[in-house]
Amino acid sequence: MSDTVPGVAQPHALPSYLDVHHLGPWGIFLQQVDRVTPYLGNLARWVETLKRPKRILVVDVPIQMDDGTVAHFEGYRVQHNTSRGPGKGGVRYHQDVTLSEVMALAAWMSIKNAAVNVPFGGAKGGIRVDPKRLSLPELERLTRRYTSEIGLIIGPTKDIPAPDVNTNERVMAWMMDTYSMNVGETVTGVVTGKPISLGGSLGRHEATGRGVFTVGAEAARRIGLDVAGARVAVQGFGNVGGIAARLFAEAGARVVAVQDHAGCLYREAGLDIPALLRHVKATGSVAGFAEAEPLARDAFWDTPCDILIPAALEQQITEANAGRIQARLIIEGANGPTTPAADDILTERGVLVVPDVIANAGGVTVSYFEWVQDFSSFFWSEQEINERLVAVMKGALDAVWQVADDKGVTLRTATFIVACERILRARDLRGLYP
Ligand SMILES: NC(=O)c1ccc[n+]([C@@H]2O[C@H](COP(=O)([O-])OP(=O)(O)OC[C@H]3O[C@@H](n4cnc5c(N)ncnc54)[C@H](O)[C@@H]3O)[C@@H](O)[C@H]2O)c1
Repeated sequence: MSDTVPGVAQPHALPSYLDVHHLGPWGIFLQQVDRVTPYLGNLARWVETLKRPKRILVVDVPIQMDDGTVAHFEGYRVQHNTSRGPGKGGVRYHQDVTLSEVMALAAWMSIKNAAVNVPFGGAKGGIRVDPKRLSLPELERLTRRYTSEIGLIIGPTKDIPAPDVNTNERVMAWMMDTYSMNVGETVTGVVTGKPISLGGSLGRHEATGRGVFTVGAEAARRIGLDVAGARVAVQGFGNVGGIAARLFAEAGARVVAVQDHAGCLYREAGLDIPALLRHVKATGSVAGFAEAEPLARDAFWDTPCDILIPAALEQQITEANAGRIQARLIIEGANGPTTPAADDILTERGVLVVPDVIANAGGVTVSYFEWVQDFSSFFWSEQEINERLVAVMKGALDAVWQVADDKGVTLRTATFIVACERILRARDLRGLYP
C-alpha cells in the first residue's frame, strides 16, 4: 500500500506503525533518500531496503523508584541496516524520544558508517525518559534493565551501542557489565565509549568534537575562510558542542554565541571556553555564566557569525530560521539538525553545510578503533588514534567533496551517494536470503 507523505516527493510504502501525518525525523530521512535515488544507477533497485529498518525492538523498562513505586519507561533499539557489518549506534535518554526519531538516527548511522567506510551497519537506541529527574541508583537500574531487554539483539558481533544525548562513559560501563553478567563472561566489545579502565579507547571522549573541528576547519580552508579570528556560534554545549567549541577556540576562532537547553549567551569578543566548560560541569548548563550577555533563545539564529555548529537535537534549522542565519559555513555536530526545506534555502543562499553524516562521524570512527582494540586486547596511544581519526575524516571529506563537484550536488547528497552505493552494493553482492 502506498501512502503520500507530506513534504516527500515519492510515494512511500509506510510501515503500519508510523503515522503518515506525523512522520517526524523518519520523514526527513525518506526525503534524503529520494534526493539520492536518481544517482544510484542500477543499485536503485535495492533502495527500498533503506526505507525499512531491518529490525525494531520496543521494550518496556520497569524500574523500582527510590520511593518504592514502580515506573515504566519505553525503550527502543532499531537496527536499520546490517549489510556491511554489525549494527552500530548510540543510546539516547530523552523525554521526547520517539520510534520515528530512533529509526531516523539508526538510518543516519548506516549512512555515516558507510561514508567513513567503517565496517558497521546502522543502529540506534533510546529510552523515553528525562534522566535529570532520576537519582543515580534509578539511572543505573534503568540502564541495566534496558540492557537486559535489548540483550536479545545486541552483542560485539551483532550490534554495538555507544553514548548519545544524556548517556556517557558511566552508562556504557553499566551496559557492558549487565551484558557480561547475562552471558557469563566479560565482553568489553559490546559497547564503545567505555571508561578507559574498562577497555575504552583514548581519544573516544573527544572524538566527535575533534571530527567536527577537523572537517569544519578543512571545509573552511576550501572556501577561503580563515578559522583564526572566525566568529563561531554553537548550539548544544555537551560532549560534541563543548569539545568542538574548545578546539575552535584553541585554533584562534572567537566563539561568540552558545545555546543549550537552559541558557543562551553572547560575547562579541569571544567567550572564555575553558571557563564556560567549568561552569557547565559545576551547574549543568551555560545559564548564569557571568562573563557574557544573556541572549534571547530565538535571537541565537540571527547572531552575526561565520561558522554555525548545531550540536544539540534534530530539526533545529528549519524554513523558519534558515533565511536568518548569517554564517557562511554550517557544520552539523548534531544528527539531523537541518530539515530538507531549510537545506534548500541554505543552498540557494550559498551557505555551505557540512552534513551530520560526515561532520559528526569522528565518534563512530574512534568507536571502531575501540572495538578493534577490544578484540585484540592491544591498545593504541592517543596520538596514534588522533592521527588515524584525522586521516579518516579528511579522506572522507575529500571523497564526498569530489563527488559534489563532479555531480553538482550538495555535500549532503554527495555523502548519501557515496554511502548508499557502498550499502546497496553490499546488499547486491550478498543477495537476498533465502
Ligand atoms: N556523543 C557522540 O559521540 C555523538 C556522535 C555523533 C553525533 N552526536 C549527536 O550530537 C548531538 C549532541 O550529542 P551529545 O553527545 O553532545 O549530547 P550531550 O547530552 O552531551 O549534550 C547535548 C547538549 O544539547 C543541549 N540541548 C538539549 N536540548 C536542547 C535544546 N532544546 N536547545 C538547545 N540545546 C539543547 C544540552 O543542554 C547539551 O548541552 C546529538 O544530536 C547526537 O546525536 C553525538
